[in-house]
Amino acid sequence: NLLQQIKDFEDTFTVDSTKLKQVVDHFVKELEKGLSVEGGNIPMNVTWVLGFPDGYEQGTFLALDMGGTNLRVCEITLTDEKGAFDITQSKYKMPDELRTGTAEELWEYIADCLQQFIEFHHENEDLAKLPLGFTFSYPATQEYIDHGILQRWTKGFDIDGVEGQDVVPPLEEILKKRGLPIKVAALINDTTGTLIASSYTDSQMKIGCIFGTGVNAAYMEDVGSVPKIAHLGLPADMPVAINCEYGAFDNEHVVLPRTEYDCIIDRDSPRPGQQAFEKMTAGLYLGEIFRLALIDLLDSRPGLIFNGQDTSKLRKPYLLDASFLAAIEEDPYENLSETLDLFERQLGIRPTPPELELVRRLAELIGTRAARLSACGVAAICKKKNIESCHVGADGSVFTKYPHFKARGAQALREILDWAPSEKDKVSIMAAEDGSGVGAALIAALTLKRVKAGN
Ligand code: BG6
Ligand code: GLC
Repeated sequence: NLLQQIKDFEDTFTVDSTKLKQVVDHFVKELEKGLSVEGGNIPMNVTWVLGFPDGYEQGTFLALDMGGTNLRVCEITLTDEKGAFDITQSKYKMPDELRTGTAEELWEYIADCLQQFIEFHHENEDLAKLPLGFTFSYPATQEYIDHGILQRWTKGFDIDGVEGQDVVPPLEEILKKRGLPIKVAALINDTTGTLIASSYTDSQMKIGCIFGTGVNAAYMEDVGSVPKIAHLGLPADMPVAINCEYGAFDNEHVVLPRTEYDCIIDRDSPRPGQQAFEKMTAGLYLGEIFRLALIDLLDSRPGLIFNGQDTSKLRKPYLLDASFLAAIEEDPYENLSETLDLFERQLGIRPTPPELELVRRLAELIGTRAARLSACGVAAICKKKNIESCHVGADGSVFTKYPHFKARGAQALREILDWAPSEKDKVSIMAAEDGSGVGAALIAALTLKRVKAGN
């Protein structure tokens, strides 16, 4: 019966404290391995962001922020008041078709947005003379800060001819063709941007995190703790930001409690075998996990749910996104009438009251598992760096919009890091909304300052 089924789902999706701790222990080793010469699953990309801003950076910059759901173009002026800035920005939706289109379509779309922004905000083209900070939120190998070779697409992107290539020249070329001779001063990841922007206004910020379409974090390391760049002979105490790319954690499937639904998601994704951690925790996949669990019930226990109803709509992969689950979890009514509406509207299904209870619990279980596992990445960085207490700057649609995500993550941190019930949270994950644009400007400013100083 349905109650038994709820119980089965609870067994499938619940991750207890012991498991969380096991995940974190393995995570710490994998972070270390990524910094070592041998490498490993987690790329631990060196960003060449060499230290935090001092709060007195100045200048006006363009920032282009290619996130998971939006593309933002910003003009940012860092003012002479400590930690202060002015920002003008426009947001454009990243059309879904772009994810699997051609490289040309992608660059053309980005150029269109940038051009529109410039035309809208400035009649003259002075803006095109400003240095650009480009937030490109995919794993990139960087030897210098103003270039980046895409290691592989993540978050469902699958555009031919970009992996293995430097992404800066095609962007600069297309802009030049349109009479916008914009120079990319720095290419950064959204996590690095979030880290730098958060620390600009709060010196306790030690980690920048994204919980959105994808999941990832960046933090500051000492060069001496990064054996894979020891051959460069840089000072051991020089700080350098590391973009972990920890969505790739446990691609070897050693420790994560994967369910059959996680395996199907991986198998049917454009990049099977990659981003194991991300596929269990990020916004792109939450709705799909939920859909697969319901399909499993329909197929393996015919007649148990949605009896006699047309369930064909539910068969479409990725039909439901994380906002569908969020809406179910947010349904304020005891009779779950909003959930009923949602099912009718989007799926053409009218669940019975017990079925509504089941889907609500399923959404809660999937959302809770995502939040608890997400906390493991943050805890692992704290453990690796021996950080006892700090602030963590976070952004992304799941963090900002998914109900209870913050509280569930905070609870998991308490369990993993063994804080006494009377202790206040020592590691607090706080909103750093829209930080990566400001981060990109700050990093561009830091880079230009270094170039000027000749180092
Ligand atoms: C935005 C940041 O707010 O969040 C982006 O400005 C980031 O840099 C994005 O990539 C991540 O969230 P999502 O949900 O769009 O993937
Ligand atoms: C994916 C990307 C990573 C990004 C994260 C959050 O994991 O590979 O670069 O930081 O999503 O957007």
